[in-house]
Amino acid sequence: MNGPREEKEHKKVLLAYSGGLDTSVAIHWLKENQDCEVIAVTVDVGQSDDLKAAMRRAKVIGASRAWVIGAKKEFVKDYVIPAIKANAMYEGNYPLGTALARPLIVEKLVEMAHRLGADTIAHGCTGKGNDQVRFEVAIMALAPDIDILAPTREWNMSREEEIAYAEEHGVPTSVTSDAPYSIDESLWSRAIECGALEDAWVEPPEEVFGWTAGHESSPATPEYVEIGFSEGVPVSLDGTAMDPLDLIESLNELAGRHGIGRIDHIENRLVGIKSREIYEAPAAVVITKAHQDLESLVMPKDLLHYKRGMEPHYANAIYDGLWFSPLRKAMGAFVEKTQENVTGVIRIKLFKGSAVVVGRESPYSLYDSSLSTYDKGDLFDHSAARGFIYVWGLPSKAAAMVGAAKDGNGVMNEFAVKEGSQGVCK
Ligand code: ARG
Repeated sequence: MNGPREEKEHKKVLLAYSGGLDTSVAIHWLKENQDCEVIAVTVDVGQSDDLKAAMRRAKVIGASRAWVIGAKKEFVKDYVIPAIKANAMYEGNYPLGTALARPLIVEKLVEMAHRLGADTIAHGCTGKGNDQVRFEVAIMALAPDIDILAPTREWNMSREEEIAYAEEHGVPTSVTSDAPYSIDESLWSRAIECGALEDAWVEPPEEVFGWTAGHESSPATPEYVEIGFSEGVPVSLDGTAMDPLDLIESLNELAGRHGIGRIDHIENRLVGIKSREIYEAPAAVVITKAHQDLESLVMPKDLLHYKRGMEPHYANAIYDGLWFSPLRKAMGAFVEKTQENVTGVIRIKLFKGSAVVVGRESPYSLYDSSLSTYDKGDLFDHSAARGFIYVWGLPSKAAAMVGAAKDGNGVMNEFAVKEGSQGVCK
C-alpha cells in the first residue's frame, strides 16, 4: 500500500533529490527520524544546477549513495514533444515544465528502486503544492508496491525553520535569507516563487530572472528566426536541421536574450490554493506560438476548433498529475493523429519581450490566396454566397419571427406565428 507507514522500518529509501533546501534537509531528517539508508537520486531534465556538486552535498549530508540520471533527451522526446503537439499551457500561460518533469522523474526512480531493491521512494514536496500529488499519483500508477515517504509534509517546518534546521545541523544548502527564492528548473521552464514574490502587487525584482534579459537590456534591434516543423515536431532552426533538444536549448538562449518568455501568473493549484508564480520559458513560448500558427495554416476549421477546445483539458491532465491516466493517453492519441500535416516553416520576429509570427509556409497549407484575394485572379464564386446565406440564416430568421410574434408580456399571438411561419421560405 502507498502512503507513509509508521509501523514499518524503511530499510532502503530512494530520495528524489534536487539539491535544494527541502531535499537536503530531508536526507538529514530521514536518517534521524526513520531507521533507514538514504540513496539520493537526481534526474537531469535540464536544470542548470551543478549536479555533481549536489551529489557531493548529498553524501556529505548522509546519503549512502548519490546518483545523477541523465534524462534530457527522453524528457524532450516523451514529454515535451507531446506537450508541444497539444500546445499545452496551463491556464493559457504556464508551459508546464515542472509538471512534465515529475512523471519522468518517477519513471526513473521506480526503475532505480527496482534495480537497487529499495522499498520506499521519498520526495521533498510540501503539503501545499502540486508536486506531491504528481509524484505520488505517478508512483501509484507505475509501482503500486512501493511505499512513499513525504518528510517535508510530515515535519511541518516553515521555510525559515528549515533554513535554521539546516544551519543547526550543518546541512549545506544554497539558500540564504538574501536569496530566499524557491526555484525549479527543467529545460522547458524555470519557475520562481517565495520571498518578495509572495506579494502579488510587487513587480518581480530583476534578480529572480536567470534565463531572460529585461526589456531595458535586451537588444535594440529585432532578430528573426525560422522554425521548421515535421509532423508537429520542431526539427530545424534557420534552415539547419537540429535535434529537438538542441533546438530548445538554442532557442532558450536566443529568445531569452530578447526578453521573451517571462510569465507572471496567478495560478490555481490542484490543492485549492491560488499562488503567484514567475516563469521563464523562452523556447516554450516561441515554439508553442509557432506550432499553433502552423496548425492554423494546415488544419481544416472543424479539426482546429475541436483541438483548441480539448487543449486545456490536456494541459490540466498534465498539471493535475494525471500523465499516466487513460484520459491523458487517449487525448494524446487524438493529438498525435492531428499532427500528420503539421509540417512547414514559421518565421518569427523576436524583439523586446515579444515573439510575433510574421510568416508561414507549408506543403500542406490550406490557405489559398486565389480564394481569399480581393484583387484580380479571384476564383471564389461570389454568386454562391447568396444561396449559402439563405440557408445559413434560416434558423435565425425562424427564431426571430417566433420572437416577433410574442406580445409585450412574452405571450404568443397565435395568428402572428402562423402568418410569420408562412413567410419564412419566401
Ligand atoms: N507552479 C508550478 C507547478 O506547480 C511550479 C512549482 C514549482 N515552483 C517552484 N518555484 N519551486 O507546476
